[in-house]
Amino acid sequence: RIAGPSGLVIFGVTGDLSRKKLMPAVYDLANRGLLPPGFSLVGFARREWADQDFAQVVHDAVEQYARTPFREEVWQQLAQGMHFVPGDFDDDRAFEQLREAVEQLDTSRGTSGNYAFYLSVPPRFFPRVVQQLERHGLAEAPQGSWRRAVIEKPFGHGLASARALNALVHEVFAPDQVFRIDHYLGKETVQNILALRFANQMFEPVWNRSYVDHVQITMAEDIGIGGRAGYYDGIGSARDVIQNHLLQLLALTAMEEPASFDAESLVTEKLKILKAVQLPEDLGEHTVRAQYTGSWQGGERVLGYLEEDGIDPSSMTDTYAAVKLEIDNRRWAGVPFYLRTGKRLGRRVTEIAVVFQRAPYSPFDSTATEELGSNAIVIRVQPDEGMTVRFGSKVPGTSMEIRDVSMDFAYGESFTESSPEAYERLILDVLLGDANLFPRTEEVEESWRILDPIEEYWATHGVPAKYPAGSWGPPEADEMLARDGRSWRRP
Ligand code: BG6
Repeated sequence: RIAGPSGLVIFGVTGDLSRKKLMPAVYDLANRGLLPPGFSLVGFARREWADQDFAQVVHDAVEQYARTPFREEVWQQLAQGMHFVPGDFDDDRAFEQLREAVEQLDTSRGTSGNYAFYLSVPPRFFPRVVQQLERHGLAEAPQGSWRRAVIEKPFGHGLASARALNALVHEVFAPDQVFRIDHYLGKETVQNILALRFANQMFEPVWNRSYVDHVQITMAEDIGIGGRAGYYDGIGSARDVIQNHLLQLLALTAMEEPASFDAESLVTEKLKILKAVQLPEDLGEHTVRAQYTGSWQGGERVLGYLEEDGIDPSSMTDTYAAVKLEIDNRRWAGVPFYLRTGKRLGRRVTEIAVVFQRAPYSPFDSTATEELGSNAIVIRVQPDEGMTVRFGSKVPGTSMEIRDVSMDFAYGESFTESSPEAYERLILDVLLGDANLFPRTEEVEESWRILDPIEEYWATHGVPAKYPAGSWGPPEADEMLARDGRSWRRP
């Protein structure tokens, strides 16, 4: 799978995402031989840069963040196709220049009119950029070529704004031209959820309400919001990651086997799950949001959320959120899915834990099983990618004592192949026109349908709980599970 003649235009090219993820991903793709020789990268931003300045910025980003080793010949080949257009999003002249640049690269680099426009910009600029692309004839592909729009999250602030944005985008771009990024879908381990479930025979028979007690999906980060105040405040953890990453993980964990692995079949199955998600009646009992407070983390004194640079000291934005969801269908009725995420937690880890019911009957003495927990299958999304199966085993010795043990699959041990970075995979897919790993309009809207009432409840009830930086969240989240007779895993 090698991309054909094409180019990528990045709006917001001076941003963090572009420097840390997009530029290195483009280089890594080139280095792996997955880009066409004439591939062109065009940056658009409000800087007085010449092409060489832009190339230098990309060079530095590549040096710092690329996954693959630096190779001069690959770099040179890529650098020759780099072009920069200075301007802001209201600047018609800049968009005219962009159009000319693209046409010129078609001739000099053979990009053949095939361009993806990556909107790595704050969401308030999405409508403007999309309109400008249309106005300047960039959205419409010349005969025989393609134009695609790649849109970063967050896609809307709630259902109403997501709908409005979708309507606006679709006035300009047809559905198959639009690629919405949820970079979790580009992660190797996330794609593997479907392989584990549907390429094997041994998991599916127990993957349902007859055997599963509950599911816990955790996305914990140790970093705070340092430097991203402008984006984060007013959005919060639930809109930032539950609406997209965690609900996608839930959908992949819970969905039925798709008829095939094309985008259509995948979306169909994921959507069925998202539509079946029900909120608990009492949101006060079954959701928790919180903010981190200043504390010691990893031997370092860190600021609380309200003390961070650029954060309104009376902000009610959540940096931690936990919610209980249910899926009303035959497979999952009565099985809670607990989702939690937070900044400044104990450590960085994302995992999906399918926790099983206890054996219906125990022929052992109750003392023998005192230390036996619940069986679990844990899909470790990151950073220690793999899977753990936890079960009880007899402790060696003369008496019968059963204790939890685990069996591990680790990518690092089982494979010599390295995983591409999520953004590499996704950019390549955009250039190939492969939409499998991109959420559709309906999924985005359905996810907001789930989250909106929770946000609304939080906005009108009480204040966020607190948790010290470096902890595993507020006591309220533990209490939330304790009320159901369960507890959070300590990954
Ligand atoms: C982004 C969120 O989507 O995902 C960030 O906006 C978060 O707040 C990031 O830090 C985490 O991504 P990853 O790949 O490091 O888990």
